[in-house]
Amino acid sequence: MRDLISLKEEVSADLEKTTSLAALESLKNKYFGRKAGILTKLFEELPKLSLEEKREVGGVLNRLRGELMILWDQKFELLQAEELDREAHFDLTLPGKKVERGHLHILSQVNKKIREIFLGLNFSTVLGPEVETEYYNFDALNIPPNHPARDMWDTLWLATEPKKLLRTHTSPVQVHYMKEHEPPFAIIVPGRVFRFEATDATHEVNFHQFEGLMIGADVNLANFKFVIQQFFDKFFNKKVKMRIRPSFFPFTEPSVEIDIQLPGTERWLEVMGAGMVHPHVLEEVGYNPNKVQGFAFGGGLERLAMIKYNIPDIRYFYSGDLRFIKQF
Ligand code: DAH
Repeated sequence: MRDLISLKEEVSADLEKTTSLAALESLKNKYFGRKAGILTKLFEELPKLSLEEKREVGGVLNRLRGELMILWDQKFELLQAEELDREAHFDLTLPGKKVERGHLHILSQVNKKIREIFLGLNFSTVLGPEVETEYYNFDALNIPPNHPARDMWDTLWLATEPKKLLRTHTSPVQVHYMKEHEPPFAIIVPGRVFRFEATDATHEVNFHQFEGLMIGADVNLANFKFVIQQFFDKFFNKKVKMRIRPSFFPFTEPSVEIDIQLPGTERWLEVMGAGMVHPHVLEEVGYNPNKVQGFAFGGGLERLAMIKYNIPDIRYFYSGDLRFIKQF
């Protein structure tokens, strides 16, 4: 019986000293463990006693075990509460770690800028598929089979039946849109295009264009000239000198080419093709060319970015080189 009383003191002292949940767990083993626990061992001694002693000592032992378990539970709750308290009280006001944040790629920035400028001129942004049929990429744009104009674009064909291809320009989106909508409207179509070309400083297998289309009862080339001058001035953030030259595209008549000259430079840079949408194209989408007309234009996005930011090689855009990307 004396052993039992000192045992209780011993356990209390042990619990008192315990400061972690892990240490508390091993105390549980030490006293109550199923195999080697001190209390378990004492219970195992009971059969050696007389009936009378068994009843007395057994009762005390049971009560003692009950009390000790309560002490243990109390300590457990205390330590657990302390732990939660520590977690809840870290200092939110300490300065955070400085992490490097990414940003939009230069091509995405330019794409966004173009859309914003045209949105300001009341053009909606429209997107179209990158995989096209021959019909949309060529035929509907007045480029018949065997027409020499098809040679202007070396096409990447897909092994599909019926024949499909990676669009060589964003112009097919004109056809998609006109078939689904009635004029008047004005749209801008940024998008990725593909050509089977040897790459060099100014050519890539995949690049981006932006296409414009404005159709109405009397939309004309003077309207185009105004719109596109607005665009260049806003894009380059300065007054840009512009030159319009006659050219040829199967889907426009007349067709023109636009050159720009930046302030302080002598050189004319060719930046886009344009023209009045050809009557054949208007008929193809179900419009009456005697009732509606309009202009279309298309230019390379990388080309504009290269001019604006003095980028010497188109391949930088797709290099994934952080030294390049971080400059913008
Ligand atoms: N699709 C032409 C190209 O890829 C560019 C172009 C020229 C688009 C004249 C037009 C246009 O909408 O009217 O070279």
